[in-house]
Amino acid sequence: MSSRREFIQCAGASAIALACPAVAEVATRIASRPIPGTGERLPIVGLGNSSVFREGDVARTRDLLTLFMKHGGAYVDTAGRSRFTVAQFVREKNVHDRLFVGTYVGATDPQEMRKELASVQEAQGGGTLDLVLTRNIGDYVDNPWKYRQLKDAGITRYIGVARSQARFYEPMMQLIEARVVDFVQVNYSLLEPESDRRVLPTARDKGVAVITNRPFINGEYFSIVRDRELPYWAAEFDCDSWAQFTLKFILSNPAVNCVLTETSNLKHALDNLGAGLGRLPDESMRRRMLEVIREIV
Ligand SMILES: NC(=O)c1ccc[n+]([C@@H]2O[C@H](COP(=O)([O-])OP(=O)(O)OC[C@H]3O[C@@H](n4cnc5c(N)ncnc54)[C@H](OP(=O)(O)O)[C@@H]3O)[C@@H](O)[C@H]2O)c1
Repeated sequence: MSSRREFIQCAGASAIALACPAVAEVATRIASRPIPGTGERLPIVGLGNSSVFREGDVARTRDLLTLFMKHGGAYVDTAGRSRFTVAQFVREKNVHDRLFVGTYVGATDPQEMRKELASVQEAQGGGTLDLVLTRNIGDYVDNPWKYRQLKDAGITRYIGVARSQARFYEPMMQLIEARVVDFVQVNYSLLEPESDRRVLPTARDKGVAVITNRPFINGEYFSIVRDRELPYWAAEFDCDSWAQFTLKFILSNPAVNCVLTETSNLKHALDNLGAGLGRLPDESMRRRMLEVIREIV
């Protein structure tokens, strides 16, 4: 039996997979790619800042992250209150080494930055953070040393910036060109493919890791494809759903290390993790996929 088929069977039995370890045991692990700067492998489907984390719902956070890890997922994006909900899970389950958590820093004063991040470190039970991101790209461009210091002081292993609008591509490019970021997080999908003109190829060229956000434009994508049949040729790259259609498009860009997918729904989480298995579309398929979406919108 192919590992992908095993995964699909598991996905079909999502609730059972959680309740029944025998089923969960056969869980197939999604693919991973190396982080350019270090070679550390990062699984290619990540979890966004999901509402269960934001709500501080510990039980549902546990279910979601347990399922995610069972299928080899590791990257979790956390901001605001989510940082503490996920940190609590990391501490209680002692999974610091199995999850790769992205945390945002909002402060820009060096002392305040350290204070803010110390509270996250403490919540997860101590230890170095995996990735600290800021949305404040202007501050990073002007003062890259402040962020570099977080690494030098052993507060975090990686640093970077995150944004989801085209107006930030230029300053993001500046940081990539100067090689002062390990990671950039940027919007990229079938509906928002523009970052593949310059940001993604430059990041690949300069050895900067890329995490993509807004794969479903916060859910809008599903209202666009609703009631449409998935093209039959999607089977050629092991795609079973409209969610995987855009996720596999994103992942077939060689600059991308990991795609964020936000959901609080276990069935959706399994569907999204399925994009991390099997074949990916080639260049001609990618063009066809863009045409399909252009015809619909
Ligand atoms: N740093 C930044 O500036 C920035 C900006 C935007 C986003 N982000 C990050 O990127 C992540 C994702 O971006 P996004 O917030 O735009 O969300 P998104 O992942 O594009 O879309 C989430 C929506 O899609 C639905 N969904 C997810 N998987 C599905 C599936 N398989 N089938 C049907 N519906 C599905 C979810 O509903 P259900 O919950 O019902 O599944 C939710 O309504 C965020 O969580 C955040 O971590 C960062």
